[in-house]
Amino acid sequence: MAEILRDGSVFHLRNDQISYVLCEMPGGVLAHLYFGARLERLNAANLLRRADIPADGSFTVQECALDRLPREYPSFGLGDLREGALTVQAPDGSQAVDLRLERAELLDAKPALEGLPATRGEGCAALRLTLRDAHTGLVALLDYAVYDDCPAVTRSAKLVNEGSAPLNVERAYSLCLDLPDDGWDLITLPGAWARERTVCRRPLVAGHQGVSSRRGASSAQASPFIALARPHATQTQGEAIGAALIYSGNFMAEAEVSQFGATRLLLGIDERDFSWELQPGESFRTPEAALVYSGRGIGGMSYGFHRLWESHLLPKRWMNRPRPVLLNSWEAAYFDFDADKLLAIAKAAAASGVELFVMDDGWFGHRDDDTTSLGDWYVNRRKLPGGLEGLGEQVRALGMQFGIWMEPEMVSPDSDLYRAHPDWRLHIPGREDITARHQLVLDMGRREVQDFVVKVVSETLRASGAAYLKWDMNRNFTNIGSAALPAHRQRETAHRYMLGLYAVMERLTAAFPEVLFEGCASGGARFDAGMLYYVPQIWCSDNTDALCRLEIQRGTEMVFPASTMGCHVSAVPNHQTGRVTPLETRFAVALGGSFGYELDPARLDDGERAKLRAQVAFANETQLLRLYGRRYWLQSPFGENDAAWMSVSGDRSEALFTLVRRMARPNAMPPLVRLQGLDADRRYRVVETGEVFGGDELMLSGLCCPLGNGDAAALVYRLRAEA
Ligand code: DGJ
Repeated sequence: MAEILRDGSVFHLRNDQISYVLCEMPGGVLAHLYFGARLERLNAANLLRRADIPADGSFTVQECALDRLPREYPSFGLGDLREGALTVQAPDGSQAVDLRLERAELLDAKPALEGLPATRGEGCAALRLTLRDAHTGLVALLDYAVYDDCPAVTRSAKLVNEGSAPLNVERAYSLCLDLPDDGWDLITLPGAWARERTVCRRPLVAGHQGVSSRRGASSAQASPFIALARPHATQTQGEAIGAALIYSGNFMAEAEVSQFGATRLLLGIDERDFSWELQPGESFRTPEAALVYSGRGIGGMSYGFHRLWESHLLPKRWMNRPRPVLLNSWEAAYFDFDADKLLAIAKAAAASGVELFVMDDGWFGHRDDDTTSLGDWYVNRRKLPGGLEGLGEQVRALGMQFGIWMEPEMVSPDSDLYRAHPDWRLHIPGREDITARHQLVLDMGRREVQDFVVKVVSETLRASGAAYLKWDMNRNFTNIGSAALPAHRQRETAHRYMLGLYAVMERLTAAFPEVLFEGCASGGARFDAGMLYYVPQIWCSDNTDALCRLEIQRGTEMVFPASTMGCHVSAVPNHQTGRVTPLETRFAVALGGSFGYELDPARLDDGERAKLRAQVAFANETQLLRLYGRRYWLQSPFGENDAAWMSVSGDRSEALFTLVRRMARPNAMPPLVRLQGLDADRRYRVVETGEVFGGDELMLSGLCCPLGNGDAAALVYRLRAEA
């Protein structure tokens, strides 16, 4: 059970697994004392002495003291010379803030975050600390929650201007975590289009290191996540601490190793294209950040995040619920289709047992390529003479659900929408627009743009009767300016965009609770906990090559559970890499997430189509285990020839094991893979071979995995506990 203990000036947030301890210093400065495995008690004097700070009431605010003190929500410029979490410009032009604790409240309920996605408040204990800067009247409410069932603490800050003059927030991070030493490796998930979320691990060095995005979205190039792992930590052993931001826009995640070898983690909205004016009485809320601690390796940290998102963040109505096996038309037809062609694909899909047919890009305006029509969300009758209604009906008549693609945040310069409302785009007056994929970005911060998006998406869903919507977003932000804001508020544009997008997602998901929304951004360029509050799954990458997907899916699962990853079997040669891999291997890898297809089954031969039928049946039969079981990575694809993972059901009676070998090795013994997460005292039957092994044997000695010849070979085994 989560609890928050107060012992004088010490606040201790804890549950069965973790403790998070902070302390009020004399004068009201907040110190951070500990985040790690659960403690029974903590004497602050010990840690403060290490920082040369007497804990006997004689603490005085001075540079040497503040620069050594582990802090909770520091600002720059008044003695702590490390990076701060908060910068606010006062009317006199100064940027320093000196927050002192005024009040501490144990809350009955975790407060909702105004307009922002955040973990839900069930099953947690919540603390609010109110701090004030006497000079400006700025008040910071630091909100914390600790959960009953996960090794996690979440944090966010609300800034209120209780002074009499306007203030300008220049930096307002969500999280600062000061740790006493620098004996850690830093883990981040950098990437690129088609190479999202590569696991990058390197030792911390003195000074600054980290990742950020200024692309308008969390991005393929960086993920709003940063972790520390002890140098010897493995998947199963050693300490790891991760921090993830529940936000989908520009962010900064940084570690700073100080002159004294202490480590400060910072996470929040990137400050380089941000500021926020706070008139007297106004407030600003930072996104929520989640911190997870694991004493059981990096896998334990990932599991902590998976549990947190599954129990407290992901849309409830989709949790533990089967997802339809879908077929998406994109790689099957691209823009080149009409109703007959789509129906032929849909018919072949239905014959394989596919449950949902998704029409991707190209159905609206006069869009035959990516140069036109975004914003004109009315059906192209030349392609679909029966309209969305007609196609939707015909697909449903095949026994499938119908799904549709939209990219509602964008506008093509060649569109009726742009011609009618040129000022609805992000732009800087007098500067040439920079297009990307021939498109511009709508200014989602504006209420009229939000209303337009809600209207066209609602009409599209109603007309088509769609059970599924793929919500795409395909470019970085440039020319970041809003016609709705005065000059001195232009740097609010990108964050206002995110607030507007979240408001739209809130309205639409509430109005269409039964529609399955799948996020997408040129593949996985906005795969973050912010979007996952609204959509239960996100297209993981435009790269559908099975071997590339090993790394992409492994990197994504560092933070996010299997159910959130859209994973499809596509045709060969693969459209992104030209590689030919066996259908079985493409299937084995796509089973790693929310399963579907990205091909035209009519172009397969009879044998392959028969395999598809068997695949769909297998995917359905195993889906609750695959999507909601506990995921163990047994062998990482990074730098290795073989990758192996498994999912284990909550009661450990079932497991699904997958092994993929990239390159065949001549004259090699078959791999022996040690499994994890089974019950050591039970015996498990391998369904595919009929053999029975002890759980202990499988975990300690391993499972011999005879792979056939050939590159990109895969093996999938179901394990069932014997009665
Ligand atoms: C990018 C997505 O990632 C693809 O799957 C596809 O939907 C295209 N956009 C369509 O333009």
